Amino acid sequence: MAKGKLLIRALKGENLSVPPIWVMRQAGRYLPEYRATREKAGDFLSLCYNSDLAAEVTLQPIRRFGFDAAIVFADILLLPHALGSDLWFVTGEGPRLSTISDEADVEKLVGCDDIHEHLAPVYETIRIVCRELPAEIALIGFAGAPWTVATYMIAGRGTSNQEPAHRLMVENEGLFSRLIERLTDATIQYLAMQIEAGADCVKLFDSWAGSLGGDAFDKFVLKPCRDITTALKEQYPDIAVIGFPREAGERYVGFAKATGVDCVALDSDVNPVWAAQHVQIDGCVQGNLAPSHLVTGGEALVEHTRKIVNAFSKGAHIFNLGHGITPDGNPDYVHQMIETVRAEKPG
Ligand code: CP3
Repeated sequence: MAKGKLLIRALKGENLSVPPIWVMRQAGRYLPEYRATREKAGDFLSLCYNSDLAAEVTLQPIRRFGFDAAIVFADILLLPHALGSDLWFVTGEGPRLSTISDEADVEKLVGCDDIHEHLAPVYETIRIVCRELPAEIALIGFAGAPWTVATYMIAGRGTSNQEPAHRLMVENEGLFSRLIERLTDATIQYLAMQIEAGADCVKLFDSWAGSLGGDAFDKFVLKPCRDITTALKEQYPDIAVIGFPREAGERYVGFAKATGVDCVALDSDVNPVWAAQHVQIDGCVQGNLAPSHLVTGGEALVEHTRKIVNAFSKGAHIFNLGHGITPDGNPDYVHQMIETVRAEKPG
């Protein structure tokens, strides 16, 4: 029998008889123990920067569900915070940041070497989780991809169509490109430190990749992802990287080859039978159950879970959702999903 953590074996291309399972946003508001720990911390950001409590919420879903991987509890917006953006969260609304609109705003971001003091609590969370995590469970480090992080930094908040970032890209592409490059360099350093601290693999969340097409997708989704993956693998040849170009549609095809990632995470709009033919041929895939099934449960949950397991059974696959579990997700249905995946025997 091959040795090693199941998640890492799948990431390296092994077709396991039962796919390893984890869930995006598995530590979160749908869990009463998460809400209690957040309360203890005071608020979400204080929780992110409190290594003991962040480690605790990282481990909670592992204890409750027996997932095959933990993901360090943090947020993609901690990196802009470390670079000097103001950051706060408005309850019920989401993140707010100072905005970026001109040269001076980009110039005043701190140098990439100077982010680590601010981010030290994240590295410490990773070290604590590594000590406590059962040996067979993998720990995933992560960062936002430059384009997605830039959309929040430019607009100062989440936007439905990323219009402010699109506008800056068109009106001042030089400045926009410099911001993307700065984020690319900082992300490489941030992820390298997460690996040093003990992360077994890393994931790049490009949640708004789907709002770029054509040339812009090549320049601001593929290239930064390739640059980050290449730099990390130069330093850490064995490290596996997961890319998540959410809502990339047809651009999922060839994404792994174009960027060098070991695994492509698929959103819920993707048809798994199509993705098995067109994306999984290049390596491991992860996804793509709609998070709404963990709100409604029942037959539809079981049916869709089986469909995904079967569609991807001919190659390397990690079972996951197509996006984060929502606060109204039902922990009982998470159990039901896991039992369904582990009981399924693809024909
Ligand atoms: O369990 C895990 O997956 C690890 C932790 C994690 C969080 N955010 C914690 C979090 C991860 C991997 C993220 C990624 C993240 N953060 C993304 C990329 C993935 C995606 O969802 O598209 C993005 C875009 C963000 C930025 C962000 N953080 C937004 C827009 C919001 C507000 C919306 C919301 O869900 O509340 C957050 C807050 C956030 N990040 C919460 C959690 C658990 C909820 C905060 C709370 O407890 O109130």
